[in-house]
Order: sequence, then C-alpha cells, then structure tokens
Amino acid sequence: MSEDIKKTINELHIYEKKLLKELEANPNATPEEIAENTAMDIKSVMSAAGSLSSKGIIDVKKEVEETYSLTDDGIKYAEEGLPERKILDVLADKKKIAMKDLADETGIDKKDTNIGIGWLVRKKWAKIDKGIVNITDFGKDFSSKNDIDEKVLNYLQSNAEGVKEFTDDLRDGFKNLGNRKNILNVKKNTSHSFVVLPKGESILKEGFTIQKQATQLTHKQLKEGQWKNLQYRPYDINAEAPVVFAGKKHPLRVIIDEIREIFLNMGFSEDNGSYVESAFWNFDSLFQPQDHAAREMQDTFYLKNPLTCDLPDDALVKLTAETHETGANTGSTGWKYDWSEDIARQSVLRTHTTGISTKHLYDFEPPIKMFSVGRVFRRETFDYKHLPEFHQVEGLVCDEGISYQNLLGTLKEFYKKLGFEVRFRPAYFPYTYLSTETEIYLEEKESWIELGGAGMFRPEVLKPLGINQPALAFGLGIERLAMIRYDVEDIRMLYKSDIKWLRELPLDRGVEL
Ligand code: DAH
Repeated sequence: MSEDIKKTINELHIYEKKLLKELEANPNATPEEIAENTAMDIKSVMSAAGSLSSKGIIDVKKEVEETYSLTDDGIKYAEEGLPERKILDVLADKKKIAMKDLADETGIDKKDTNIGIGWLVRKKWAKIDKGIVNITDFGKDFSSKNDIDEKVLNYLQSNAEGVKEFTDDLRDGFKNLGNRKNILNVKKNTSHSFVVLPKGESILKEGFTIQKQATQLTHKQLKEGQWKNLQYRPYDINAEAPVVFAGKKHPLRVIIDEIREIFLNMGFSEDNGSYVESAFWNFDSLFQPQDHAAREMQDTFYLKNPLTCDLPDDALVKLTAETHETGANTGSTGWKYDWSEDIARQSVLRTHTTGISTKHLYDFEPPIKMFSVGRVFRRETFDYKHLPEFHQVEGLVCDEGISYQNLLGTLKEFYKKLGFEVRFRPAYFPYTYLSTETEIYLEEKESWIELGGAGMFRPEVLKPLGINQPALAFGLGIERLAMIRYDVEDIRMLYKSDIKWLRELPLDRGVEL
C-alpha cells in the first residue's frame, strides 16, 4: 500500500501537489480561491483536479445554479401589466367587446392583443361567443386582484439582481411565466467543489514536498550538467490513453498482399485471368474429361450471359480434342470418348485459377515463373467452412530440368515465409502426375488441414499447348490461411465486416523476407 502511495506521489504533477496541499489546509476552498492561493491560473487548477480525480485522489463535484430575472419584455409587462390584464381592465368596465374592436378599445398592439386574448380565455377570465369577448364571473373576481403570474412578475421586478429559488406559493406562477415566450431570463452558473478521497488522505499523510520539476531539458542544462540536479516526474505508464482505431487493411487483403510480395520476391511474375472463363480453359485444357464430376451443374456455375465463350485457335482446339479422345502424341490413350466443342464453349465462373496456368503456358515461352491471385467460384452451400466464392493463389514454373522436388521446395519456402510449416500428401488431379496436397497441422484441432493442390502437369496438358519442358503448378486456398492466422472458426467471419472484430485485429505484421 505504502509503496503504491509513494509511486503515486512520485508521479504527481507539481500542480496536482499544490492543489492537494491547498485542499489539506483549506478543505472547502473553491477553485477560484485555490487559484488565488496557489498562484495558479484557474485552467491549471481544473486540469489538475481532473487528473487527481481520474486517479481516485479527489472527487470533483459539479453544481449548476440557475438565476432567473426578467427580460426587457418581462420588465415592460411588469410595469404596464400583462396583455390579458390590460384587456381585463377594459372588460371590467365594458363587460363585452367585439373581437374586431379589441385593439382599438384597449389601445394594445395587435401582437399583444392576440397573446392577451389567448391567456384571457385560458385563465377563464373571459369567454368568446360568436366573435364577442365576454367577461366571466371569475374574470370579474380578478379585476381587482393580481393572479399568481403577476405576483411572480412583481417579485422578479423588485429583485432585479435575480432570483435563485421561488417559495412554494410562487412556484406555479414561475412555471407559467417560464412557459411564456421571452419573459424570463435564465443564467446558469456552474461551480465546482473538491473533496479529498481516502487515497488523497493517505497521500497527504505520507507527505511530499513541492519542488519544481523539469519537463523540458535545454541544450545548456545537458551540456553543463545541471540536468543531474533537476527533479523529474516519472511517466505513469498505466495512465489511460484514448483508444485509437486506426484505419487498416482487411485481414484477407493483408494476407493476399503478403502472398503477392512473397512470390514477387521469389522471382515470379504476376498474371491475371477473368472470372468468366470458357469451359475449355477451365476444364478441357487441363485434360479434365467432359463428363468429369467437377463439371456438373451442382458444382459449377454455368452462365446464361454470355452463354458461350470463344474457343482459342483451331490448331489448339483440334489437338486438345485429339488428346482427350485418343491421347494423340502424348503417349497416353486419352479418355476414349467423343470430345464436344459445344461443351468446351460453355461459359463458367472459373472454379479454380489453374486455367490461368494453361493459358499462360500457351501464350508464353519457357522459362516461366508465374503466379496469380484471384477469386474462384463453386456451387457450395454457405457454412462455417464453405463459401461459394473464395480466393486461390495459382503458381506455375516451367523450364528444362524442373522437377517434383522443385515443386515441394517452392511450396515449403512459400509457406515458411507466411509463417506456416506444411507437409505433403500424395493426391490425384486429372492434370498432374505426380500430384500432392499440402497440409498444415492444427494443434487445437489435433488434425491436418488441407491447404491446396499441386503437381507436375501431365504431357496431356503440356503437349497440346506446345510445351516440351516440364512444368510444376499449384493452386492454394487463401481463406483457410487467414482463418488459421487470425484464429477464426467460421469462414464467414472474413466477409461479415464485423467492426468489433476488425478493430481488435492487430495491424499488418508484414512479411519476413
Ligand atoms: N486446381 C486445384 C483446386 O482448385 C488445385 C491445383 C492442383 C492446382 C494441382 C494446380 C495443380 O495447379 O497442379 O483444387
């Protein structure tokens, strides 16, 4: 406890100390008195008080006091009488006046006549019947005495310095006048008082000296050694600071940018495809037979508009057809069916980014090192693990001498840079041999999670594209990586724009290259 108190004392600002000492000597001192006695300005007193209060050393009480007085209109009414009184005076004599003659008969201006007649009726001093204003018995009664509104008016007039409180008998009148426009003036006066709390008592009991503290060191003080003898106030590193929600990238964008940076640094160049692709590039160029399950309507989005896409040039289409049907010159027997151009023309939302690899191989000559990041689409039902659109990164390396070992090495290196350790499992894809799937071990789940597929493109893929060198390729999911890194159980979180979650995520940590 005492250690705590000492620490708190150490961290007190000189103004806080002065204020506290003053309160010890003069517990009921107002901020103004404290300012005067300590030779501080009032702003410094209040800010020191705020700081002491946030540390639980004193309590700052705030009181708002209202003072009421008459406006210029109010003074006029007090002197001349309220409009309803002026009309009543005339009515007491004449008993009835036609509405249209009211202003003339009473000599009151139009505005006040309207106000007056309103109150006259409300106070039941008069009744209006077919355009004639008639005095009531109640009105007659009041013709020779003041009502409560007038009493308050008079009271305020005789207390020109203002009234802070009304006695019970005047309170209703005060309310009435307050409800009328422009009669009462309200002046608000806020005052503060301070109460030393138990923690403050302990501090005072412990005692302290008030010494000037150095806040800024000058060149001279440093050079000439005066800094050694100065008093310093320690920082309070536990002081509350405002929470700042800095603008930042979405976590998925962070990972995508990291992935791009990693591949660019590994010497890959970036390519892009389009979301709408022909079945030819999405499936046929990958030696995926036309009756392959992945092509089914329940797995793939087929488009109505455009219903079909153009096929590439005839030679490639012909070679692809032959390869599917008989294996052509690839050393394979093919899938042994009649290949259809119409099926190849169908337009689909790309189901993977691997079509970018085959197109790239057709458009460019090896040596090739290409990667591409983008959205892919599959007819999945939403659940905690699946989305109908998600992101993949596709990679392709093609050159003389490229081997399956290069594939494993490349993937290992890539994941390592992202902060993941992976293992490889044998797999099957219609377009690769050898083929593998990368997996990562999740300790909390005690299980292996699949991250993506990879392999060496088969001759049935490469030959029709005019490629004679070996090619490694991979297609890796990105959302899963984000889920693991940000500890998200439900993939939908990445698309929900949950502002609380996004705010609390750490900033982009950057890649170690
Ligand atoms: N396209 C596969 C998928 O979406 C992943 C894949 C496997 C990509 C093997 C490749 C590859 O480039 O060689 O699951």
